[in-house]
Amino acid sequence: MNCRASWLKQAKVKELLSRHTTFKIGGPAEFWFEPKNPAELSRLIKIAGNKNIPFFVIGAGSNILAPDSGLKGIVIRLNKDYFKKTEFRKGKIFCGAGVMLGRLLSCARNFGLGGAEFLSGIPGTVGGALTMNAGVNESVEVSGCQSVREKTKQKTKSIGDLVESVLVMDYDGGISRLRKSGLEFSYRSSNLSNYIILSAVLKLTKKSKEEISADIAQYLARRRQTQDITLPSAGCIFKNPPNQSSGRLIDLCGLKGVSLGGAVISTKHANFILNKGKADARDVLGLIDLVRKKVKKKFGIKLETEIKIWP
Ligand code: EPU
Repeated sequence: MNCRASWLKQAKVKELLSRHTTFKIGGPAEFWFEPKNPAELSRLIKIAGNKNIPFFVIGAGSNILAPDSGLKGIVIRLNKDYFKKTEFRKGKIFCGAGVMLGRLLSCARNFGLGGAEFLSGIPGTVGGALTMNAGVNESVEVSGCQSVREKTKQKTKSIGDLVESVLVMDYDGGISRLRKSGLEFSYRSSNLSNYIILSAVLKLTKKSKEEISADIAQYLARRRQTQDITLPSAGCIFKNPPNQSSGRLIDLCGLKGVSLGGAVISTKHANFILNKGKADARDVLGLIDLVRKKVKKKFGIKLETEIKIWP
């Protein structure tokens, strides 16, 4: 049996991406593959490279809009045990790319390690969170300013702040460890998007379990209070422009509640698009386009999507 046949045998064919995205949107992936370990992943990446087969890596699918027509190529999910390990040593946590952030937080709490509580309620994996430098963006109201442009200042807390090193695979299947000095994190972006993240070492700080629990509860409560988490979505659709909130700008355009097909702009947080049940990617793209046009016209600001629109 040649190598290609061997991975093909393990891959699922025509796996619906709507089953793997929090938006519950997306047609079939030609192949769906969950490697058991880095060696298996490396073999696959090399074959894909040699045969010019496109591949896509998916985490928890919480920041992706997948096309209705599906994807040609291989969608890879690091979901097997090897990629879901966590280990604590000397205030550091060694975690696989496939670990869900919620699990990371509860393990850290059990070890009395804090500092990552701001990630509470983000429905992502460590790998996905690192790639997009997930975090919270705490807007601080600036009093006395009249212009919408000056109304808020933003304080961000992102997973990149916690990173010591990341083990990555390049697109030739080679593995290397990137230390802090080689890592670049900025608002919802990193230089890790050119790699497949295998695992990471995060540095946390000693904190009592009670204090960690209280902070997690506070972050979750704030999320429940301000964000629409009752229907499928991909979280915030647009990045915030500097010192601005996309939610506020979209709200000021009067777009809350506007719907297209099965998709609707949340009435609770205008930077959320919800799937009312039967939305497809076309509906969401239509709303994205409408929002961009209205915000550009009213404020002269070009919104940039935070979600990844595949392919
Ligand atoms: N606002 C409105 N109308 C709305 C939504 C918000 O006027 O429809 C106002 C709020 O009242 C507030 C300001 O806009 O004064 C900012 O809103 P919020 O505090 O909800 O924060 P955000 O900037 O919209 C950011 C992140 C969220 C993160 C929260 C909380 C981005 C794009 N969004 O939202 O992240 O959870 O801060 O820290 O950076 C995500 O990345 O998917 C995401 C949801």
